[in-house]
Amino acid sequence: MKNELKLSVIAQNVSSSLTRQFFNMAKEISDTIDFTLGDPDLKPLESIRAAACDCINRGNIRYSANAGLLELRLKIAKDVNDKYNSNIDFENVIVTVGGMEALYLSLLSIINPGDEVLLLGPYYVNYLEMIKMCGGNPRIIWTEEDNHFEPSIEELKQAVNSKTKAIIINNPNNPTGHVYNRKFLKEILQIVSENHLYLLSDEVYKEIIYSDEKFYSPFDGTKDNVILIDSFSKRHSMTGWRIGYAIGAKYIIQAMTKLQENVAACTPVISQYAAIEALNHLFPEENLREYRKRISEALEILKTCDKIHAYIPQGTFYIFVNIKKTGMKSLSFAENLLLKKHVAVAPGLAYGANYDNYIRISLTLPLEKIKEGMNKMVEFIMEL
Ligand SMILES: Cc1ncc(COP(=O)(O)O)c(C=O)c1O
Repeated sequence: MKNELKLSVIAQNVSSSLTRQFFNMAKEISDTIDFTLGDPDLKPLESIRAAACDCINRGNIRYSANAGLLELRLKIAKDVNDKYNSNIDFENVIVTVGGMEALYLSLLSIINPGDEVLLLGPYYVNYLEMIKMCGGNPRIIWTEEDNHFEPSIEELKQAVNSKTKAIIINNPNNPTGHVYNRKFLKEILQIVSENHLYLLSDEVYKEIIYSDEKFYSPFDGTKDNVILIDSFSKRHSMTGWRIGYAIGAKYIIQAMTKLQENVAACTPVISQYAAIEALNHLFPEENLREYRKRISEALEILKTCDKIHAYIPQGTFYIFVNIKKTGMKSLSFAENLLLKKHVAVAPGLAYGANYDNYIRISLTLPLEKIKEGMNKMVEFIMEL
């Protein structure tokens, strides 16, 4: 038999996200107002930027240990213990190339080919592809706006079968901005424990919350099956620095560290030194105020158009907008809006096949641009 030059099955089956595709299309039209990526425009604090420069100037720019600088792991452990009232130590922490690598290495550590991972739709698009990259099968539990994008506990229980290995929960949720309440999360925790599953708790937006619903985490450091995923990207506006972390049982962190050695070796040390400084600061109050203002101004403008309605986010900087009454599906809506008005949004289809009647708007632009973009979008709909 002849050898064949052919891509792997995994490479053939993994898709690039529609969000990225629209971001790339937006880049080709010079005056586009781009609401596609969740990439904060606010700057990291000056002291964080200075810590990165200082690291370079001191020549502290070599590889670190695979799991990250000890100083940073210790500081993350302390920060987590302070916030979650837990009692973890640095061996429960791995520093990763963004929250994304934390998710990927976690999945790679626990998924065998054929295992199922449960996701709630609408989901953060990369979960799906990462699960496939690990040889697993994503299984979506579809949720609806009428139920605040939450499944019933019965639905969740019924989705678990002998192949189920893990559940991923993203709280607050991208793309809806929904914040799950304590009761719901406790019930999930119970399902996970009863069925010997892992729970990946993706909390990268946990400090960007506007509602009275207090953030609750299923992580408390006592359960071996809960892996906490977090990142400096959204909270400290450090997306391009590519730094995040996972917290979990030592045996999982050890496995992730071995995988890390073979994938990236370590997270860039410049970002690690900057993260040490970032941990000296809480999520800036003024940033929360700014996002809140952006959301409420955008919602005000969207309200003027009766063919759409926005799901009111309780957290994040996203708005998930129902466009059903426009008669357009999300792809053609997003395409036409971009071509006619030079406004880029992410089609709901990116977040699951059931969300073709939605678009996601990421409010990571200054307020004036947001108002201009929202007005253009309303204009576009009126002209349909
Ligand atoms: C839900 C969710 N998890 C994880 C990430 C990963 O972020 P990063 O890799 O930049 O830390 C993102 C980024 O958009 C996200 O929305």
